[in-house]
Amino acid sequence: MQHLLSAADLDRDTSIALLDLAEDMAETADRPHKKLPTLRGRSIVNLFFEDSTRTRISFESAEKRLSADVINFSAKGSSVSKGESLKDSAQTLAAMGVDAVVIRHGSSGAPYLLAHRGWIDVPVVNAGDGTHEHPTQALLDAFTLRRRIHQTASRGRDLAGVRVAIVGDVLHSRVARSNAWLLTTLGADVTFVAPPTLLPAQRDAFPVSMETNLDEVLRSSPDAVMMLRIQKERIHGAFFPHEREYTRIWGLTAQRFQALPQKTLVMHPGPMNRGLEICSEAADSAASTVLEQVANGVFVRMAVLFAVLTGKEDL
Ligand code: NCD
Repeated sequence: MQHLLSAADLDRDTSIALLDLAEDMAETADRPHKKLPTLRGRSIVNLFFEDSTRTRISFESAEKRLSADVINFSAKGSSVSKGESLKDSAQTLAAMGVDAVVIRHGSSGAPYLLAHRGWIDVPVVNAGDGTHEHPTQALLDAFTLRRRIHQTASRGRDLAGVRVAIVGDVLHSRVARSNAWLLTTLGADVTFVAPPTLLPAQRDAFPVSMETNLDEVLRSSPDAVMMLRIQKERIHGAFFPHEREYTRIWGLTAQRFQALPQKTLVMHPGPMNRGLEICSEAADSAASTVLEQVANGVFVRMAVLFAVLTGKEDL
């Protein structure tokens, strides 16, 4: 694997190999000495043009666990136009001799420019680009689901027949897009659930079903309900009448949560708007995988960085 730009690029075997490699990485976390010497002497830059807490820290921990040298570049507030500043930053980094770039950018497609314009000739990992994709989030979600569903026998397994409802601001969500590709590649059945205004305009653009009635979807007892954050920073029009209205119809309220079968997993990529798309009772329950998703993110990112930097043949 040269770059990781999109979950849509991952086929089933590569996805399973990455998840299995993440399992190997997870095993090392139980050791007293967590650090592996694998990427010693390699430098990785985290190029963050957009706010981030967990993804940035998660990549940084993954890089440090693999003994890489880490450079953090936070470009927030740059006054240069986006295309130019990206090219300039890339060329600066190339001149400094970095070995890989992890990039988060507000513009969809920015990681592709970096990987394919010849500005820099190193592996590029997409850490979230606009509303387009967030492939490592999808991998950590798949990893979390696989572990919860198959438990200790999860290696080598896919998610055939697992039913996942992805609920909320699908339109602005790169998490929803990456999960739609990866989870279906792994055999899961995915349903997007949102107000009609927050569903993708092109109904056949993704290999998923699309619904507007959350209660109906919940009555069909999906194995997991993935709640999405309302992306207030990307919402510039009136997509729903009022937040209260949204919560009442599309939120995972206490009432809806209590009506779910006990085995239904509750997922959220974070950061959560508690009380808006998800209630605290659900977020803090035993069914919630929110903190597991964060913990698993480090293992999955270790696997991805290892794969792109060592060019393992089967990955
Ligand atoms: C997501 C993101 O940034 O796309 N967060 C994350 O990476 N954990 C989801 C979000 O911001 O809602």
